[in-house]
Amino acid sequence: MNDYIKVPEEFKIELTLEGLEINTTNSKEPSILKPSKEFDWDDFYRQGTPPWDTGLLEPDFKSVINSNIIPPHCSTLEIGCGSGIEALFMTQHRFEMTAVDCSAMAIDRARIRAREKNLFLRIVHEDIFKFVNQSRQKFDFVYDIGFYHFIRRSFLQQYFNLLWRVTKPGSYYYTLAGSNEEEFTPEDVRQYFLPTVGQEDIFNELGALFEVVEIRPGTIYSRARKEPFKAWSCLFRRP
Ligand SMILES: C[S@@+](CC[C@H](N)C(=O)[O-])C[C@H]1O[C@@H](n2cnc3c(N)ncnc32)[C@H](O)[C@@H]1O
Repeated sequence: MNDYIKVPEEFKIELTLEGLEINTTNSKEPSILKPSKEFDWDDFYRQGTPPWDTGLLEPDFKSVINSNIIPPHCSTLEIGCGSGIEALFMTQHRFEMTAVDCSAMAIDRARIRAREKNLFLRIVHEDIFKFVNQSRQKFDFVYDIGFYHFIRRSFLQQYFNLLWRVTKPGSYYYTLAGSNEEEFTPEDVRQYFLPTVGQEDIFNELGALFEVVEIRPGTIYSRARKEPFKAWSCLFRRP
């Protein structure tokens, strides 16, 4: 059994993701968690609660929404919504939400949460690339919490195309990404399962599509460590 991800014992989770290749050749950015074949995200959820699924709303995302830069109640897409914490928060704030995730188990959990809170939103079980190919919809606001930092490693160009398809001039895009200011050892990489990215890379990559509203230091929570990890809280606007 491969034991790629170690989280504290009390969370009783054993993750055995075949096909995950951990490349630690670049010391500044050691966390190259790269799928060498089709990556089974659902496996994380089937085996328990994944490290990123803390059940807590990310404070940096909340403060961006509370800052009222994003037009109230606008059409919003969450990419890789997981078990739905941020999507439900947005629905409570009367944004017109569509939340997409490729994991059936994560989507079940998001739907259960929505039912328990009596919240109505569109929760879609689909690969985001297929979803975007099938739907011609454009959104005023698109966001991901911990998706860009994974996808950029293997499918950056495809992600650019996707973001372009789902936005229109004036749309906002937000991502919360692990920061390379965390100095991870290869063991940390295995344990925390958090890809990291530099501020300059974010600027160069996403700044090619969007105007930067802000890229500022923030935090991202994980069940794998008590204190949150350093992150970049990034808001963009399409010109
Ligand atoms: C790091 S997790 C973050 C989940 C959630 N945003 C959170 O913070 O709890 C990335 C999520 O993206 C989903 N995902 C990965 N690839 C996807 C794809 N191609 N289409 C849709 N969802 C995807 C995974 O199932 C997982 O729930």
